[in-house]
Amino acid sequence: MAHTLSTLAYLVASVLFILALRGLSHPETSRRGNLYGMVGMGLAIVATLAQPGMGGGGLALILAGIVLGGGIGTALANRIQMTALPQLVAAFHSLVGLAAVFVAAAAFYNPESFGIGVPGDIKAGSLVEMSLGLAIGAITFSGSLIAFAKLQALMSGAPITFRGQHWLNLALGILLLVLVIAFVATGSGVLFWVIALLALGLGFLLIIPIGGADMPVVVSMLNSYSGWAAAGIGFTVGNLLLIVTGALVGASGAILSYIMCKGMNRSIVNVLLGGFGSDPAAAQAAGGGGPARPVKAGSPEDAAYLMKNAGKIIIVPGYGMAVAQAQQVLREMADLLKKEGVEVSYAIHPVAGRMPGHMNVLLAEANVPYDEVHELEEINPEFAEADVAYVIGANDVTNPAAKTDKSSAIYGMPILDVERAKTVFFVKRGMSSGYAGVENELFFRDNTMMLFGDAKKVTQQIVQALQK
Ligand code: TAP
Repeated sequence: MAHTLSTLAYLVASVLFILALRGLSHPETSRRGNLYGMVGMGLAIVATLAQPGMGGGGLALILAGIVLGGGIGTALANRIQMTALPQLVAAFHSLVGLAAVFVAAAAFYNPESFGIGVPGDIKAGSLVEMSLGLAIGAITFSGSLIAFAKLQALMSGAPITFRGQHWLNLALGILLLVLVIAFVATGSGVLFWVIALLALGLGFLLIIPIGGADMPVVVSMLNSYSGWAAAGIGFTVGNLLLIVTGALVGASGAILSYIMCKGMNRSIVNVLLGGFGSDPAAAQAAGGGGPARPVKAGSPEDAAYLMKNAGKIIIVPGYGMAVAQAQQVLREMADLLKKEGVEVSYAIHPVAGRMPGHMNVLLAEANVPYDEVHELEEINPEFAEADVAYVIGANDVTNPAAKTDKSSAIYGMPILDVERAKTVFFVKRGMSSGYAGVENELFFRDNTMMLFGDAKKVTQQIVQALQK
């Protein structure tokens, strides 16, 4: 009876997780999606704790783990800045990888508790699941640590490459497979740890050649790996829900990686083989290495005057808007302009900011109406009819080098065609380049006016000027 009830609860939780993913696919339904996910997870935890055989010391240990882990997680989530979320996510993925390694080790040394045999005589099927969980978990762990270090700027975001790198990775991948087969055939403890060490090294080697601009794809790929690692654990501990949830995370992470690759116009193989992304030499050049070129700088009052008299304005938010937390005042500016009869819309690039959906979340937080927010393909043809493109803290996502400069780190990435608007305002603090370290030619164009300053302050000054 208890078993039937827990199976039923797991089924309901699985359906809730699927509904959660569906809800999260649109800003309007995302809150509901989150709620489904939370209820599903709550149900899953209760159903697992209510399993027959669960009780006494084991239950106390699990509850202590939930309180401790939940406490640390809550404290971290409260303190973390929105802009640091990608590295937080990378750090969380590393923990999922590590958990997979620990569960595999626990099952290997204590197979009776898992009902998979006795030490030295574990079922072959279980050895396959265990070794795959171990290998994927270890790759996820070390790969996520490197992604964390790159995103947190603890190490250079530039690709680290050397001759024969891809061949070495391929050889190590094949060796790992051979070792897994040998482990399944022999059940050797030494092989177990050799697989763990080799997979740790492979995770490290797979991520170091991937450059800054491709990091978003890597984080979502590691998300996918962590899902498969969790599914692997599900097989080992014989938990149906963990298999389903892991597969959902694995599949949705893979789909997100694909969507982001499309957004960056990269093939997944191209990203995985690495060596693209920020070019330190280009970054240095963009950082002010060459002779200073003249730009046209304007004041917030000039901008307010021009915008008040415009017919159509497209706002392009980027990472700098997130840093300045300018979304609220930006919406106030848009409201005032709409009162003047100006048509206002927002253009969102798929990789604007530092995480998928970053700009959508911030604009939603400021209650910007969803029907004013448009994706790249939808809005690009409209720039030619716009009087003003108001680029606030965005840089790479507008850079035409992506279309023309084959040596550029962002070459091939689709961009927002802001230069086709009659006037382009760039709100940023100085002349520095964006994340990919590539200079933006648009700053020097005739139809560009730079509005130097913090995104929030400049927009506030425009609001004041519009209110006069
Ligand atoms: P970026 O190209 O990084 O440019 C942001 C600009 O904001 C900078 O040039 C900076 O110039 C300016 N800025 C910073 N703080 C500011 C402030 N307080 N006020 C005003 N301006 C400020 O941003 P983007 O156009 O959004 O492009 C995103 C980049 O990040 C892409 O290269 C993308 O590949 C990468 N990336 C994206 C993700 C995801 S998933 N979205 C994840 C990781 C990396 P100043 O210093 O001169 O002010």
